[in-house]
Amino acid sequence: MGILDKHKVIETNATLLLVLSFLVVTIGGLVQIVPLFYLDNTIEKVEGMRPYTPLELAGRDVYIREGCYVCHSQMIRPMRDEVERYGHYSLAAESMYDHPFQWGSKRTGPDLARVGGRYSDEWHVDHLRDPQSVVPESVMPKYGHLEDTLIDGRYIGDLMSTNALVGVPYSDDMLANAQDDFAAQADPDSDYDGLLERYGEKVSVRNFDGQAGISEADALIAYLQMLGTLVDFSTFMPDESR
Ligand code: HEC
Repeated sequence: MGILDKHKVIETNATLLLVLSFLVVTIGGLVQIVPLFYLDNTIEKVEGMRPYTPLELAGRDVYIREGCYVCHSQMIRPMRDEVERYGHYSLAAESMYDHPFQWGSKRTGPDLARVGGRYSDEWHVDHLRDPQSVVPESVMPKYGHLEDTLIDGRYIGDLMSTNALVGVPYSDDMLANAQDDFAAQADPDSDYDGLLERYGEKVSVRNFDGQAGISEADALIAYLQMLGTLVDFSTFMPDESR
């Protein structure tokens, strides 16, 4: 009996095929799942990750509300064409403070996981106001209303508390100063030492939309300019021991 004939025995006996398929899937499943129980943490810690600042978190909220994720992903896959276009592939740790995560599955526009610092704030203002003015063939809708909508950050403390509830390490100090930090980041003339002390020296403090008052565009651009900039990939080494 050749190997093909033996296989025919299985293929012509539905019950046997079912039992053997079940066995194969069970073994495959165990091989994948069991090792996870022996890891302390499935997310490799990386240097540089911090919770979002109040202004960035407000911007992330605008991003979700406006449905930017419908056209943009935030996950660079470890394939050569992606890495050459967008930069280092995304690490699990980079979205560990995202509730909900913004990996996305649709790319009508480019991946935004590392868009931070790629363009100037002015470019973002122009692009949000009228995408076709900077990229003529763009199908992205206009979001000019964001720069006309001011936000006072009154609810940002509540949003941060909710994030803390699901595990984002916002300290009592961060929660107590939420609204001050929110306002300070959008005003380079403010006293923002406390903000940098709480969230790190690398936090960008600027008038992101170039206009008086804190608008939704300020928050959104602060968020976009931070994306993918927290981990320093010139010094990052993957932990090969695990
Ligand atoms: C209907 C689909 C669609 C939606 C919704 C959309 N975009 Fe886009 N976006 C695009 C396309 C297409 C491009 C590429 C052309 C361009 O730059 O305008 C793009 C480009 C961008 C870029 C430049 C990326 C790069 O690397 O060049 C940014 C930043 C961006 N979008 C942000 C946003 C934000 C923020 C929102 C939500 C407020 C949003 N987009 C909503 C389709 C969309």
